[in-house]
Amino acid sequence: MIKLHRFPDLEALSRTAAQALTTVAKACLAAQGRFTLALSGGSTPRCLYEVLATDHPADLPWSATHLFWGDERYVPADDPASNYRLVREALLDHVPLPPANIHPLDTTQAPVEIVAASYETTLREFFIGDWPRFDLVLLGLGDDGHTASLFPGTSAFIEQQRWVTVGEAPLAPLIRLTLTLPVLNHAARVWFLVAGTSKQKALQRALKGEGPAGAVRPVAGEVIWWVDEAAGAGLPALTEVP
Ligand code: 6PG
Repeated sequence: MIKLHRFPDLEALSRTAAQALTTVAKACLAAQGRFTLALSGGSTPRCLYEVLATDHPADLPWSATHLFWGDERYVPADDPASNYRLVREALLDHVPLPPANIHPLDTTQAPVEIVAASYETTLREFFIGDWPRFDLVLLGLGDDGHTASLFPGTSAFIEQQRWVTVGEAPLAPLIRLTLTLPVLNHAARVWFLVAGTSKQKALQRALKGEGPAGAVRPVAGEVIWWVDEAAGAGLPALTEVP
């Protein structure tokens, strides 16, 4: 089932998504004793991470929450382009998350294939079963329709066996690590955060099932698109959950 929420701006989108994420985290804690969350990189989710830190430092069950990354750039953890650094600055430095619950990719390893293989080992040791089932995966949307670091026309996008692979981006940083499409499609929930007029065309194509973002259709899970008015302008009438 695909739902779409539309908001006046990124701030309103992020505040509502943060509340909904907290509710999901509590439900997962009650049902299974933990909450597994794969984080998105890029600029759009920064606001959500900051709101989680400021508005939900105590009500989100941080001690039972495990953070992973949906993708990472092949740069040092303190590089301005690092998705780990984004999350550390916006969230990790401000909430009581046990260090053992933080599962970043180790981009100090070389060659880059080792980073992908060791993160896949991390996931296989954490999740039981043929595929990892994240309770929630946060994703963004590129103007070209990519999501995570699954770019159109790349081998990463069509990878069907590995859980983590090396992604090639058309813009710097060129070398990336990414969860593969089968992993995304085994998640219980996938939430896309999309803001800005530059995303309008990519959003419309993705909602029609086109491109890497459009291929994210969990076999047994929900997809929710959290969009602002700028990105969602011109969309046909879709189910909008208040
Ligand atoms: C990354 C993200 C990437 C991002 C989109 C949108 O590492 O950059 O995983 O998929 O979500 O490129 O980026 P913005 O949010 O910056 O528009």
